[in-house]
Amino acid sequence: MDISEEKSATLIAEHDRTEAPKMTENTTAKQVADMKAEHATTVGKPLVDNAKMSMRGVDVFYGDKQAVFGVDLDIGENEVIAMIGPSGCGKSTFLRCLNRMNDTIEICQVKGEISLDGLNVYDPKLDVVPLRARVGMVFQKPNPFPKSIYENVAYGPKIHGLARRRSEMDEIVETSLQRAGLWEEVKDRLHQPGTGLSGGQQQRLCIARTIAVSPEVILMDEPCSALDPIATAKIEELIAELSQNFTIAIVTHSMQQAARVSHRTAYFHLGRLIEVNNTKKVFTTPDHELTEAYITGRFG
Ligand SMILES: Nc1ncnc2c1ncn2[C@@H]1O[C@H](COP(=O)(O)OP(=O)(O)OP(=O)(O)O)[C@@H](O)[C@H]1O
Ligand SMILES: [Mg+2]
Repeated sequence: MDISEEKSATLIAEHDRTEAPKMTENTTAKQVADMKAEHATTVGKPLVDNAKMSMRGVDVFYGDKQAVFGVDLDIGENEVIAMIGPSGCGKSTFLRCLNRMNDTIEICQVKGEISLDGLNVYDPKLDVVPLRARVGMVFQKPNPFPKSIYENVAYGPKIHGLARRRSEMDEIVETSLQRAGLWEEVKDRLHQPGTGLSGGQQQRLCIARTIAVSPEVILMDEPCSALDPIATAKIEELIAELSQNFTIAIVTHSMQQAARVSHRTAYFHLGRLIEVNNTKKVFTTPDHELTEAYITGRFG
């Protein structure tokens, strides 16, 4: 057993207070699963030895309603971790905690510990602007600024003072667009509006905008859900390439996508983290019956 397995096992044992759910004859598969989830504790390997981000006992509330319950999870350096689970299970809520995007939702309250290379992300003295440069985010719907393609990519480096001269900025813009696989398609129209691009191109522009500030972690919330299969394939190739330099957490409803792009997969259900394991294991021999029921399509 390596250290992370041992740590995971101890953590799971500490939290293991399973109670039998109460069922009647008329409950559906989803209802049974929901009842089981309410009493579930995380199985598998939620912790790693080379954590880039560590989350411990994370609870999230919207007003009185709790959306995430006691999540313990590490995200490893240069890892791609996929987050999957039925709609409303708290994937986006949890992802948004990682760069304090939930701060923008007034009724949202986050408890527990979240750290980035040991830095407490929720330290009240911490400035969220540099944090969000280190932990960037790509949203479900491509959301370019109403500015030119060039300005979209240059925006972040400009506010973070990353370029002293125009030539330096030109280089950042070109490199970012190249890494996002968009340069060839836009190099002759850099000063046209970003909003004039196709959906898939806009999403790659948003990825270029995110990587232009050299983040360490990239959070992606269903980045391909508005895209066609060709644009999706491009983004997936890009994720594989970006993972050489960045740590990536991706929320997806596509199990094929999770299987294609990620190293580990985390399965959430009703705000609980049910299972975390190597992606291949999750999709072949999952440890938890709820994970198995979800990946085999018994509820969705
Ligand atoms: N801004 C908000 N205000 C109040 N409740 C919210 C808010 N955002 C999410 N919730 C609630 O928190 C829970 C988790 O929602 P979340 O959006 O994180 O789920 P999800 O797993 O991302 O779902 P989906 O797959 O549909 O995107 C849900 O019950 C949802 O209704
Ligand atoms: Mg969501």
